[in-house]
Amino acid sequence: NPPIPVITIDGPTASGKGTVAQRVAQHLGFHYLDSGALYRLTALSVMRRANGNPIPLDDEHALAKAAEHLHCHFSGAHIFLANEDVSNDIRAEAVGNLASKIAAIPTVRQALYGLQLSFRQHPGLVADGRDMGTVIFPHAGLKVFLTASVEARALRRYKQLIDKGFSANMEDLSKDLTERDARDSNRSSAPLKAAEGAYLLDTSAMTADQAVAQVLEWYAAAKALHAQSE
Ligand code: CDP
Ligand code: CDP
Repeated sequence: NPPIPVITIDGPTASGKGTVAQRVAQHLGFHYLDSGALYRLTALSVMRRANGNPIPLDDEHALAKAAEHLHCHFSGAHIFLANEDVSNDIRAEAVGNLASKIAAIPTVRQALYGLQLSFRQHPGLVADGRDMGTVIFPHAGLKVFLTASVEARALRRYKQLIDKGFSANMEDLSKDLTERDARDSNRSSAPLKAAEGAYLLDTSAMTADQAVAQVLEWYAAAKALHAQSE
């Protein structure tokens, strides 16, 4: 059996990973893994403990348990937690910030490992996150690392939050984003960094469609090269 192809798209907050990965997946008819959503779902479930007492950040065992027992499913663009559609709720900045804090805990990352691998199904997968190319799918046929300036990313996130009905201001967003970048890049477990062999793409001055076209071009080239070597 030929291996199932994987394209990984990693990068910092609001670099366009999700948008680009989804469109590339759609174009190729591949499955799509939004790995950040798994960390956000874990954060939301931790915030919403039934007894009203959120799990404290130093209770790593309980946090890992929450990740391990995540009752979630994905249906098209919709994301469910225990059968409730939380597609919008998980996009709140507070959820993203908590997600970034619990994502630094190795046992939480381990708890989500198998679930992420299970998304690799025929005819292929596009996976986006922070460690898709470095840790989860180190043998992916194409690895991309997306970047964009802090200003471009803060503006993108601002527009997204306003569109979803959240309130937001640019100053707080730039600060949050810079803090989250630092936390994601400096943690010891699966830090945010370009995988070996990843193609770098700075999208500060690009539209999402231009970024998609570039990734598809790289994928076509990688596939042709692979076919030649067989
Ligand atoms: O997943 P990530 O946090 O990296 O970014 P996203 O949720 O895909 O958000 C990026 C936002 O910027 C979306 O609203 C895109 O339409 C927009 N955008 C982009 O993704 N890429 C560009 N080159 C320009 C804008
Ligand atoms: O949309 P944005 O890029 O801001 O964040 P996200 O991709 O939804 O991920 C939320 C948080 O989860 C990030 O700040 C990371 O700390 C964490 N994360 C991670 O550690 N590893 C991944 N593969 C994906 C997300």
